[in-house]
Amino acid sequence: MAKKGPKTVFVCSECGYESPKWMGQCICGAWNTFTEERVADTSASSALSSKNREHRIVKPAPIRDIVSGETERMDTGIGELNRVLGGGLIKGSLTLISGEPGIGKSTILLQAAAGIARKYGRVLYVSGEESGEQIRLRADRIGGLSDDLYLLSETELELILDAVAEFKPVFLIIDSIQTVYSSQLTSAAGSVSQVRACTAEIMRVVKQAGIPAFIVAHVTKSGDLAGPKIVEHLVDTVLNFSGERNHGFRILRSYKNRFGNTSEIGAFEMSSEGLREIADLSASVLEETSRGAEGSVVTAVYEGSRPLLLEVQALVSPSGVGFARRSSIGFDPGRLNMIIAVLEKRTGLKLMSSDVYVNVAGGIRPEGTSIDLAVAAAISSAALGRPMADPRTIVLGEIGLTGELRGISQPERIASEAARMGFTKILMPEKNRIRWSGPENIEIIGAKDLREAVNKVLQH
Ligand code: TYD
Ligand code: MG
Repeated sequence: MAKKGPKTVFVCSECGYESPKWMGQCICGAWNTFTEERVADTSASSALSSKNREHRIVKPAPIRDIVSGETERMDTGIGELNRVLGGGLIKGSLTLISGEPGIGKSTILLQAAAGIARKYGRVLYVSGEESGEQIRLRADRIGGLSDDLYLLSETELELILDAVAEFKPVFLIIDSIQTVYSSQLTSAAGSVSQVRACTAEIMRVVKQAGIPAFIVAHVTKSGDLAGPKIVEHLVDTVLNFSGERNHGFRILRSYKNRFGNTSEIGAFEMSSEGLREIADLSASVLEETSRGAEGSVVTAVYEGSRPLLLEVQALVSPSGVGFARRSSIGFDPGRLNMIIAVLEKRTGLKLMSSDVYVNVAGGIRPEGTSIDLAVAAAISSAALGRPMADPRTIVLGEIGLTGELRGISQPERIASEAARMGFTKILMPEKNRIRWSGPENIEIIGAKDLREAVNKVLQH
């Protein structure tokens, strides 16, 4: 029989694979991801060994007999959060909210906690990061006081779960998963095996008790969860909170949602009274634009079910000796290089000895490729010193390697949003223009390729 007691294993921080010895490359392909951890040896008394398993007979059920509990959603009191969750919080669901330190994770959860407490009863906010006084101070500031909101400053998982069982909250928050540790494991809080085991245990408890719960996770600089990817697989929903820390906007996005779609975003602004929801994101983003200036082009993307107007800014300047810099904020750097190459090859723009900077204003990182053409137009505008011929024009389209413009989906709804914001023209791929069935109060300009598009929108 194997001997019991703690043993040393090496755990991959990418995928959670456990190896008895250190390896340079994990089976998941990641390099240098193994960390040494001591874990309790359970192999001798494994609950999974067939000898220990009781003899049970399980029976499949017809799908029609299964009743869905989906309709029971709780209102968090924050409309934007409800929408990202798929229409509210599902009972017994576990949601992970990740984001850089200081982005506002604790703030949004405290606001949600207060909202739920006011409407549904007792909420338990467990913090391993801050003391009760600190949280109280914040609650005072954001109007997050409620008689039914309870705080617990604790980091030992077993004590936390005992408190949950005793207290029976209607909503539970664990802030953060990296500070929680299980006394059953000998590795340190925040280690891969701790994070994984604690998440799995919290999942089991909340599912059993039907309590919806949020766990907070910090991310590393590169944007990864500090902990194994396995945690993302365990939980029902993964949300990410992002934004530029010194800029007001905060975007809440879901990357995985077992109870809703993952394309919706929530928009917030950090204020002195906590996070404020932004109902009209396009208006807020465009408020500070430099419309009409060289290198500024307005475009639109779909964020979930809503079209969002954005300003793309580009700056082109002679590069010093050495190599030309290409840098982008809010836009994929690989795609930026591709667009620069296509611009040089297909429109004859010379950028070889120029630095190119691209910024999506407002600290927003749009997904998808429909802003390609706006990026190309902004770079051309900056390089040629030619602003948009009409600043009330929206530019839409994906660029292919041959300089052709590919159609985008649902430009009609973008057009309505653009018209609402006072835009009068949309430049879009010819393919979209041919099939146009959108509003008539906006002029549609079609272009087949990049050269034609740039010529049509920039001043001569
Ligand atoms: P916090 O929620 O503590 O971030 P996280 O939990 O993601 O680490 O938010 C921290 C920042 O938010 C902090 O720098 C101060 C700022 N803040 C405001 O500007 N207004 C507020 O009302 C609150 C509560 C925080
Ligand atoms: Mg926090």
